Amino acid sequence: MAQLPPAPDDLAFASVVLRCDRIVMALADPSYVPYYHFHIHNTQGAELGHINFRVGDTEHIRKVAGHIGYAIHSEQRGNGYAAQACEAIRPWVRHFYDEVWITCDPQNIASRRTIEKLDTRYVDTIDIPEHEKQYQLGTRQKCRYRWRV
Ligand SMILES: CC(C)(COP(=O)(O)OP(=O)(O)OC[C@H]1O[C@@H](n2cnc3c(N)ncnc32)[C@H](O)[C@@H]1OP(=O)(O)O)[C@@H](O)C(=O)NCCC(=O)NCCS
Repeated sequence: MAQLPPAPDDLAFASVVLRCDRIVMALADPSYVPYYHFHIHNTQGAELGHINFRVGDTEHIRKVAGHIGYAIHSEQRGNGYAAQACEAIRPWVRHFYDEVWITCDPQNIASRRTIEKLDTRYVDTIDIPEHEKQYQLGTRQKCRYRWRV
């Protein structure tokens, strides 16, 4: 893939602000795709976690990773920051896609609830392919949602 364009520096929603930390282009596994890695901050500048936006359409994206991935530092959880970060990144995702995949483990209630708050459409829960690294680490299923951005 050609270089990804630089991300805007004004992505924000409610209590969160996104700062693009890096664009990762070169990945050892060919099923992995380039991605933007953003730090999530609050409006005072404290770091809350991160959100990744993966640009590509491989089986790994569709069945395992999804286009969007996030994590909030444990001490900052419980404030809905992950959903806010998704809303903040939404205009940049729209720059590339009309609709994206978001996935989560069935037992990850906080992530499921985050995804459902985004007004996504639940598609299915699938068995992940055995060749996937996550399978080898013990993950067996993913809930898959489509998010019209
Ligand atoms: C998933 C994650 C990013 C969510 O962080 P967050 O934005 O702080 O999410 P919150 O704790 O505010 O929870 C989001 C929603 O889930 C609900 N929730 C969280 N844990 C819950 C539980 N055990 N049972 C029921 N609901 C729960 C919250 O009530 C909230 O819903 P509400 O806004 O309707 O009240 C965070 O838990 C995390 O970093 N986990 C580890 C990394 C990870 O799993 N990433 C996702 C990979 S798909």
